[in-house]
Amino acid sequence: MSDGRYMAIPPGSIVPGALPDFRIYVRSPQGKYVLWALEGNKVSAGQLARLTEGGLKEVFVDLEQKFQYDQYLENNLGEILSNQYSSDDHKAMIFSNVSTNVVKTAFEASLGVGAMTADMLQRTQTMVRNALMFISESRSLNALAKMIGHDYQTYEHATKVLWLTMAFLRENPDVLEGIQPGYQAANEKQKMEMLRQCGVGALLHDIGKAFVATEILNKPEPLNEIEWEIMKRHPLNGLAMLLDTDLPGFVKKAVLHHHEDFHGGGYPMSIEGMKITTLARVLRIVDAFDAMTSRRPYKDPMPPRKTMQIMIGTPPEQENGDQPKDDRDEGMRRCFDGEILKKFIIFLGRVDLSGQQGALSKQ
Ligand SMILES: [Fe+2]
Repeated sequence: MSDGRYMAIPPGSIVPGALPDFRIYVRSPQGKYVLWALEGNKVSAGQLARLTEGGLKEVFVDLEQKFQYDQYLENNLGEILSNQYSSDDHKAMIFSNVSTNVVKTAFEASLGVGAMTADMLQRTQTMVRNALMFISESRSLNALAKMIGHDYQTYEHATKVLWLTMAFLRENPDVLEGIQPGYQAANEKQKMEMLRQCGVGALLHDIGKAFVATEILNKPEPLNEIEWEIMKRHPLNGLAMLLDTDLPGFVKKAVLHHHEDFHGGGYPMSIEGMKITTLARVLRIVDAFDAMTSRRPYKDPMPPRKTMQIMIGTPPEQENGDQPKDDRDEGMRRCFDGEILKKFIIFLGRVDLSGQQGALSKQ
């Protein structure tokens, strides 16, 4: 027994075979917390099955070990999403908690604005939970779990792209109309559903990276020719992973097109202009912005203002040559749909990178 304070967690957040470095308790009928597993002890699938046999919905963690529990969730998120002992509701709850932490950290670290308000955190949680429920209903949860289990950084990036994309689209109904004709005439419930589908496309856009070796994904030096060819397959691999799911066609096309450049020369098909679907043109912008403002294995995050300068095609002066040039960030002017980029810059301006929470606080 312990006299500590406890928080309830779903049994489905415990991964069979993984080593939790926190203690797990169950509550007796008398309301006492009884130690069920010590930290560092593997929990087997059989033990978990026996624990949940009677329909047990909660186990408990000492609040003092919350940090260890949060780390455990991050490290095992992919497996938690494919855990047969967990309901979709619980998976969505865990996923949204972990993802909200990712967004919160990015908001404070990369965008350099103040802390997120409780209201923003709540909205972010709801948004991510809704996106995951949709993914689950459309039979694409396994593909997402595979990506997260393969490379956590890809998942972090995808979560931030989801959040920025939804915040941007919410502010720009005309862009949403281009993605889903009929949006502006739809009722509120239909609008929410359409926006949610766009968020799902954002979350899944890099899912094909599950087939790219982590040594390539996280390589500190520029990629060589062969590695680059492998990397360029990820939109096609992503489409292949989602082909048999019930996701809408425009979501699948966004995954396929998200590296196509507006003025041609992108991959995998080098299509251009309006042949690139609208959601893919949005993702091309948000994806680049997040990649450049995030920490990479080989360089520090770029400040948002400098990032925008590069995106609109005005290369900043090299500041004393202290930051190495990154080929993957250069020549971006030709990559984007100028009209959507203008709207995205206005949207970011409303975030007020000097410290006020503007547009993002409403998302
Ligand atoms: Fe990508």
